[in-house]
Amino acid sequence: MVDFILTENIFNNENIPWNGNRFLIGNGYFGIRGTLEEYTKEQMCAVNMAGIYDRAGSAWRETVNAPNPLHTYVKVNGKKYALPENKPVFHEQQLDFENGLHSRKTVWQTENGTITVKCERFASMSRRHLIAMKYTFSADFECDAEMITGIDGDVWDINGPHFVKFNSGSEDGVNYVEGITGEKHISVTARDSVKLDFDAECSGDVCEKAVYRRIVFKAEPHKEYCIEKIAEITTSEDDFEPIGDIRDITYQELKAEHTAAWEKIWDISKITIDGDDDAMYALNYSIYHLNCIAPREMKGKSIAARGLSGQVYKGAVFWDTEMFMIDYYIHTEPEIAKTLLQYRIDTIDGARAKAKEYGLNGAYYAWESQEGGYEGCSDYNITDVFTKRPMRTYFRDKQYHVSAAIVYGLMKYIKGTGDYGILNEGAMEMVIECAEFYRSLLVKKADEPYYEIRDVVGPDEYHERVNNNSYTNRMAKFVFDTALELIEKYPSDEYDSLKSMFKDSSENIFIRKPNDGGIIEQFDGYFKLEDASVDEVRSRLIDPKEYWGGAYGVAADTQVIKQADIAAMLSMFSNDYTADIMKKNFDYYEPRTEHGSSLTACMYSLLACMTGNPDAAYPLFMKSAAEDLRPGGKQWLGLIYIGGTHPAAAGGAWIVAVKGFAGISEQNGRLVCRPCLPKKWKGMSFKLMYRNKIYDIAIQDNNVSIT
Ligand code: BGC
Repeated sequence: MVDFILTENIFNNENIPWNGNRFLIGNGYFGIRGTLEEYTKEQMCAVNMAGIYDRAGSAWRETVNAPNPLHTYVKVNGKKYALPENKPVFHEQQLDFENGLHSRKTVWQTENGTITVKCERFASMSRRHLIAMKYTFSADFECDAEMITGIDGDVWDINGPHFVKFNSGSEDGVNYVEGITGEKHISVTARDSVKLDFDAECSGDVCEKAVYRRIVFKAEPHKEYCIEKIAEITTSEDDFEPIGDIRDITYQELKAEHTAAWEKIWDISKITIDGDDDAMYALNYSIYHLNCIAPREMKGKSIAARGLSGQVYKGAVFWDTEMFMIDYYIHTEPEIAKTLLQYRIDTIDGARAKAKEYGLNGAYYAWESQEGGYEGCSDYNITDVFTKRPMRTYFRDKQYHVSAAIVYGLMKYIKGTGDYGILNEGAMEMVIECAEFYRSLLVKKADEPYYEIRDVVGPDEYHERVNNNSYTNRMAKFVFDTALELIEKYPSDEYDSLKSMFKDSSENIFIRKPNDGGIIEQFDGYFKLEDASVDEVRSRLIDPKEYWGGAYGVAADTQVIKQADIAAMLSMFSNDYTADIMKKNFDYYEPRTEHGSSLTACMYSLLACMTGNPDAAYPLFMKSAAEDLRPGGKQWLGLIYIGGTHPAAAGGAWIVAVKGFAGISEQNGRLVCRPCLPKKWKGMSFKLMYRNKIYDIAIQDNNVSIT
């Protein structure tokens, strides 16, 4: 029996940002960082709103954090006790990720005895606008106690402030703070209602950006004093209404609904691993995060690269969603996968505008996509550590592979659900326009028979502006083939005339073959670069936060790569290659990979499974599954903070477990299971949704049952 509980039982100031990520709770509409109730923006508190963006002045646009309705602390005989200022004698922070409950218990020694604060809270999974908190105080001596609880509108921002105007007040027992954003005048409001189970003198303070309740009482020794708060967050962009009046709902009722909703989610998503509790724990912790950020019952929203853990990477949607996360949703709650694709369909105008901006045709999706497909990525997306000046990067202009990732995600969805109907809902147009986009990238030298794609950035961002990145070319071919397949399946006057163009593109695009040693070169001239080891290249850094890529980065003129590139291509198009080629490329590229991206380990792990080597895959799988459990993940890109949760690694871990170790694939419309479990694993069991049917998969000592 593996308990899905994450515990930290010592207080460590340095862990505050990391704990904010790993103790996160959320319900898709917002994410609440795992910070403590007394914390403020200094400790990076955030109720991060899905898909609500703002730009402050000329700074980067990013998602907005709502006024924080959890802000609460205590005073005893007039003195405030709070972390991190007052060192505790006992401290425990917990995440019960089976039930989506965050809790803490802290004990302080005072002049007269000890006091204890306990708090449990959750982001309601049954009513998405609501947050509930139960806060308890006790002392082992008689004292004058105060609980101060309110809504704090002075929120943490990376590129803020986003609220240019506030309205705060109190009406019929409900306090509120409304923040209005500067760019689009979006209103984001937090309201709260509080119930006490003891006699106290209650008063309130309304300030410009905050509203507080002051609850003053005489505390008897060893008696618990408990307040229950129900808070509601709404925005003027909402397309669904809050359920119920927060004054009428009790904590217990809401908790019962909430835990029942989580039970239902786990029923389809839990994965049991027999023989390896650590792996089972880390994998299900990853699944927990994927569930916290899923835009359930929400229209046209997608998932940001750092989920709902804050404004890192501008709260923008990357290829991460369609490449690494969507598989999980396709096979557990396909409606969520459809919502993610709907976001791309709805934002095609942004992609068309971007293609046009670069003189290209069709749909070129944003590298960092915000609402409406708006490109959040700037031309200067990294700050140089030495000059402190923005550095010219080419992520925005040259990462052509993003449009193909979306088509790839769409096809995984269609194959996994059988929902070809989505093609009539805008997806067909999307595929065609992505194919037109790639067609407009093709160039041909006068004396060569094939098409090339020149001047690109592939998945490995450390090598910019290269020619014929093998991954990008192969993905472009995939898009041409998909467009052709769909036009043939659904002939129409509109698209039939494009067939010959896509056929020519697919047949004549340069697809690199393995060299004599079986290795596929990542791009033109890659093999000519210095073959220095990752450690050697690392030793050349002058500053640990220095960027490895770009024109002068330490990796740029070497074969050291940031992330899986050829490995991604091989695992996606495994039918095109023999196991021997896959193994040779794994052996060549993996040691040359810095693993500077959390998207990497899972790709190599999957590739190792495909070559029948689960034991090589296992440590990479664990790295991916435990990405948010482990301290020391990469926090900086140049001078830009990039900490947060890593849902692509979480989704990648799921892909490895299900498609790699369990060996699930589909053949001619049927699920096939060819397990290759790591040595330690005696068995695995889980449910999987495939084409409207839920299958129970059980693998025991490599015997398979699918029912
Ligand atoms: C990676 C990208 C990824 C982005 C967001 C970057 O560090 O290189 O491939 O999409 O992070 O996760």
